[in-house]
Amino acid sequence: MITHCHMRFHFPPFLNGFTCFLVATLVAAGASHAAIDFNQEILPLIEGHCLKCHREAHEENGRMQKPKGDIRLDAAWALLKGKDDIVPIKPKDVAHSDMVRVVTLPRDDDMAMPPEGKGDPLTPAEIIKLKTWIIEGANFGGWEGNTRGKPAEAVKIAKAPAREREHDLLYAKLAAGLDPAAPDGLQKARDAGAQVAPLAPGSPLVRVDFLTGVTRCDDTAVAALAPISDRIAVLDLARTNITDAACKSIVQMPRLTRLDLRKTKITDAGIGQLAALQNLVAINLFGCEVTDKALSTLAELKSLREICLFETTATDAGVSKLKAALPKAEIVFQVDFTVAAEKAKAKKN
Ligand code: HEC
Repeated sequence: MITHCHMRFHFPPFLNGFTCFLVATLVAAGASHAAIDFNQEILPLIEGHCLKCHREAHEENGRMQKPKGDIRLDAAWALLKGKDDIVPIKPKDVAHSDMVRVVTLPRDDDMAMPPEGKGDPLTPAEIIKLKTWIIEGANFGGWEGNTRGKPAEAVKIAKAPAREREHDLLYAKLAAGLDPAAPDGLQKARDAGAQVAPLAPGSPLVRVDFLTGVTRCDDTAVAALAPISDRIAVLDLARTNITDAACKSIVQMPRLTRLDLRKTKITDAGIGQLAALQNLVAINLFGCEVTDKALSTLAELKSLREICLFETTATDAGVSKLKAALPKAEIVFQVDFTVAAEKAKAKKN
């Protein structure tokens, strides 16, 4: 059964907007707040819960104490750099910040931090604070911490993971032999409120969103994309006023790889029309009224690798079935960070 998932899904960095649903959740949870202050609100959490075991090697009672797991959390550079594939803090990317992962694991998990019996877990409110701070960009407010051991060169940008290379190959294949969209087609799309940009410099494939006026984007606006429909690879319709009728236009986009429908009125009936999108890699249905019925359509889309079903009415059983049909896909279903904390509480009592 899928009770929680660690949100290990990967978006190419140039599509960061796709992950915005996390921001939405936190904004909803936190209403309005000033930016989180690292020194006041985050550093005390790290000092109080983590540093005992995760600081620079030092002598204690005549014995050398190495940072546990070889992971230091006593400096900004160390929090950002991590060790091998463990990165405690990845600014703006809660899903890949291992500090968030380990503090939200069920308490009996071997990797739950602080380890069971070795310190109090963070409270749900503290976890929200941590996530919000990361989403806001993980600003350390000038704090550097312990600079001993800091590598001389700046933190190296990691090599593109396999997933991203896969994307590049797919886009190259989809763009082969395609001319750039005709200017009048582009103009029609822009007149309808769309922002259209090439996926990469010189690419005939485009990314389309309506971020300058999501509420003005409706089914008619999506229909106005028809002249460029075979060039659209990425379509962001999040929070727009589209309905299932827009899916008739969307399914006419044979090169569509990423589709963001979060927080729209799309239902099972709309998703049911999308089975012909044979290049679709990612779909975001966060906050849509879709059920397991939509999942059976998604199961037909063998190219899918990333599916967000957070806050839909899909069930554990439906998601399990989808997982079986699409074993390579990463499915985000429940990311409720209170779950782990509640479990921990229930256990203690
Ligand atoms: C009592 C000591 C102790 C405390 C306190 C502690 N840790 Fe750990 N931590 C460990 C040990 C031991 C490991 C190595 C576990 C292993 O590799 O089996 C570890 C490993 C980790 C890892 C690597 C996990 C992985 O998947 O390999 C991270 C990240 C981490 N800790 C973060 C934290 C954070 C964040 C805190 C504070 C909220 C914290 N730790 C508090 C002992 C501690």
